[in-house]
Amino acid sequence: MTTRAPAPGRAVRVGRPAALHGTLAVPGDKSLSHRALLFNALASGEARVTGLGLGEDVRSTRRCLEALGVAFLDEPDGSVVVRGRGASGLDEPEGVLDCGNSGTTMRLLLGILAGQEGRFAVLDGDASLRRRPMARVLEPLGQMGALGLGRQGGTLAPLAIRGARLRAIEHRSPVASAQLKSALLLAGVQAEGVTTVIEPSRSRDHTERMLAAMGAAIQIDGAAVAVRGPVSDLRPLSFHVPGDFSSAAFWLVLACCHPQSRVTLRGVGVNPTRTGLLDVLREMGARIALEHERLEGGEPVADLVVESSPLRAVSVGGAIIPRLIDEIPVLAVAAAFAAGETRIRDAEELRIKESDRLATTARELARLGVDVTEERDGLTIRGGRPLHCAAVESHGDHRLAMAAAVAAAAGAGATIEGASAASVSYPSFWDDLRELGAEVVLE
Ligand code: S3P
Repeated sequence: MTTRAPAPGRAVRVGRPAALHGTLAVPGDKSLSHRALLFNALASGEARVTGLGLGEDVRSTRRCLEALGVAFLDEPDGSVVVRGRGASGLDEPEGVLDCGNSGTTMRLLLGILAGQEGRFAVLDGDASLRRRPMARVLEPLGQMGALGLGRQGGTLAPLAIRGARLRAIEHRSPVASAQLKSALLLAGVQAEGVTTVIEPSRSRDHTERMLAAMGAAIQIDGAAVAVRGPVSDLRPLSFHVPGDFSSAAFWLVLACCHPQSRVTLRGVGVNPTRTGLLDVLREMGARIALEHERLEGGEPVADLVVESSPLRAVSVGGAIIPRLIDEIPVLAVAAAFAAGETRIRDAEELRIKESDRLATTARELARLGVDVTEERDGLTIRGGRPLHCAAVESHGDHRLAMAAAVAAAAGAGATIEGASAASVSYPSFWDDLRELGAEVVLE
């Protein structure tokens, strides 16, 4: 039986199953799906992409690209053909580009639009995206020659950008952000000279891998990435998008924390710049095996097999944080089931995600009985206390809705308000949770 994705505003009640068993294929990776559409839109020719994530964020990217004149063909086998327009061939959009809830859509599009000489665009998003900082992208794009404007001195959406002939820059970023790095590299592809982005520690490297595979001259030196522009003819890149490690993360934690479980996750992307959670869970004592490791479209992929595991507390901070930045809410759930005090630090970037994830994770886990303290740059969780059943709120944040569901299914159940937020990255999440054996009821 399938549960339709809950309608906006609906709650979902999750019960704790006696056992969790099954095999799942999680949706296509969100980061790679955005990039597959955006980068191939700039290619000279057609690319065929299979396994695209169908969450609302990726749909936002596709809609924006359509408004910029890019054609997509949906094939009967589920693949999508992207008709590239060449590196400088996008149309000026007639209306506002609606990026919905998606920071990746807005920031990467800004990098692309910065180099579309003479064309003007306005970008907007939902209430959450309007709160997220954009100056970190608009300022360096301004130094490259684009004209960008936004509310509060160019910090907040709605934003306007007029593309220009760009010059290369060297940008030293105070934060490790793949969205910022990718925006500048996409502008760099269109700029004259070598554009370099230097991060404090390495963020996810999908952009570097894909642009190199499309023929751009990319150089990597530690946490510095450079591209030589302009690249007039990016080769289209046809590939299969692997499963999203950030979606698999929910099942990894759930299976570890539930005492009767064994779950197999097929075809998950295990790019090391994404799998910090795997390292941390293993340090906590998790039994997770990688099987059938392979390379698909230049990205490492494996099947993950995870079983119930008694967990112990850890300390997490420093360079690993960008490698598990999206997994911290669910890592906090793992910590709630681990013996001892877990400290997560250096994670202040969480305050500017789809919600303030330090505040919202602490607040909602506390409602379920977790002993958690919100710190300036992280969380402290004293694990091992039995959870209780309560109503929790997603705050419109997909990862919070799913992390709460994991806590509920491994703990004592919960009602999750605003459960439809999961559709941003994982529309079939509630079906998959039921598939594994949990009781999932739309309220
Ligand atoms: C993403 C980068 C990260 C991550 C987001 C996706 C990407 O954001 O949190 O979910 O696809 O480049 P930041 O670059 O802002 O850290």
